[in-house]
Amino acid sequence: MSRSAHPAGPRHADVYTEGHYSAPAEDLNSLDEKVWSRTVDRNADGVVTVGGIEVTRLAEEFGTPAYFLDEADFRARCRAWADAFGPDADVFYAGKAFLSRAVVTWLQEEGLNLDVCSGGELATALAAGMPAERIAFHGNNKSTDEIERAVEAGVGRIVLDSFQEIVRVAHIAQSRGVRQRVQIRVTVGVEAHTHEFIATAHEDQKFGIALAGGTSQSETGGGQAAEAVRRALKLDGLELIGIHSHIGSQIFDMAGFEVSARRVVQLLAEVRDEHGVELPEIDLGGGLGIAYTSEDDPREPHEIAKALGEIVTRECEAAGLATPRISVEPGRAIVGPTAFTLYEVGTIKPLDGLRTYVSVDGGMSDNIRTALYDAEYSVALVSRTSTAEPMLSRVVGKHCESGDIVVKDAFLPADLAPGDLLAVPATGAYCRAMASNYNHALRPPVVAVRDGEARVIVRRETEEDLLRLDVG
Ligand SMILES: Cc1ncc(COP(=O)(O)O)c(C=O)c1O
Repeated sequence: MSRSAHPAGPRHADVYTEGHYSAPAEDLNSLDEKVWSRTVDRNADGVVTVGGIEVTRLAEEFGTPAYFLDEADFRARCRAWADAFGPDADVFYAGKAFLSRAVVTWLQEEGLNLDVCSGGELATALAAGMPAERIAFHGNNKSTDEIERAVEAGVGRIVLDSFQEIVRVAHIAQSRGVRQRVQIRVTVGVEAHTHEFIATAHEDQKFGIALAGGTSQSETGGGQAAEAVRRALKLDGLELIGIHSHIGSQIFDMAGFEVSARRVVQLLAEVRDEHGVELPEIDLGGGLGIAYTSEDDPREPHEIAKALGEIVTRECEAAGLATPRISVEPGRAIVGPTAFTLYEVGTIKPLDGLRTYVSVDGGMSDNIRTALYDAEYSVALVSRTSTAEPMLSRVVGKHCESGDIVVKDAFLPADLAPGDLLAVPATGAYCRAMASNYNHALRPPVVAVRDGEARVIVRRETEEDLLRLDVG
């Protein structure tokens, strides 16, 4: 599975095993294609390339830290999702993972739709010419202004997330003489993360409307979601097209989707029995996992499409319903693997008997996921190869926080030196999107690389940008 004739990258299984650290079995120079984007390779001089361009050249031209996005890989992943789900289903790229005008253009060209969850994401989508009918608008607390803009733009669907919103969207749509297509987001009592899912009696979280019953919101029995459907069907400003469920993130196990689909289909059957209406769509959300380290084993889009299609068809047949149109909202699974963050090594501190702290020129301001979720990442020396001994390392940033960790445990070559370039793969999702100005850090650029050409699609922030907001 490793690329190039050069020897191996840090393997997490080797880093920490049953309570003790051990040296990696392979050498540190190879690149596991599971975690690196498709056009990444190491050239004959030992320098890593993406889209045919050496990272040393990229660092010189664009500086570090910077995110480099493999455009060919992004487009290929979009096509793979669109092909896997085919013409009878809809794939909405979840823009929260990473959104820019270039990304919106690629989505349009590759036939994907777009899920946005804020006025800012909506503005970006529309500015880049995404047809409004291909946009889904999400959010648990959309403002009146955001709803007005979405309705006026003519978005294809608004995903209703609360009882207040049912009334608000209906009122705004009706006052403009339109029937807004909507879905109702339900919480199905399933939470899925990585390899596990938990089925809970009720959902203790802010999103959606519970399928479970017995609430003060319910007028005529059944769960909250059944009541939400009742209310939505009565309102002239709304065209209820389906039910939406999103169960978690970084999911590998399809069992959570199975339970979710079963519960959503049960609601569709109840709606048919009570109202004589078969809602035509079911959206199963996003959350499909990617490989951050060699230990992760994500599924391919065609396997996911097949599994979800079979689950929904089976549940619908059992309930005597026609199979609804399925939609999904992958964000991470499309953009996550397509980018890496390039850093320059600064200070290096060996702590006897512990590990070596390797400081880079970015940190929690460009990747908060390690601090926020205890996320695991891989890292490699990319500006050269090394035959030095592996050195247990922690890659940390330059912020005033001891939790400012980029990669918690990794082996790097013991001859690592200031000025070397390190790259952290699989940082396409929720890194630039969640980047901050902590310590007045300047958010790094996103550079798209394709066929030997690199172009900035989101420029690096400048101190002038920071000072422009600071109006004294
Ligand atoms: C409703 C909804 N859809 C899609 C996504 C995208 O998830 P992912 O990027 O893990 O695929 C999210 C993530 O939070 C979400 O809340």
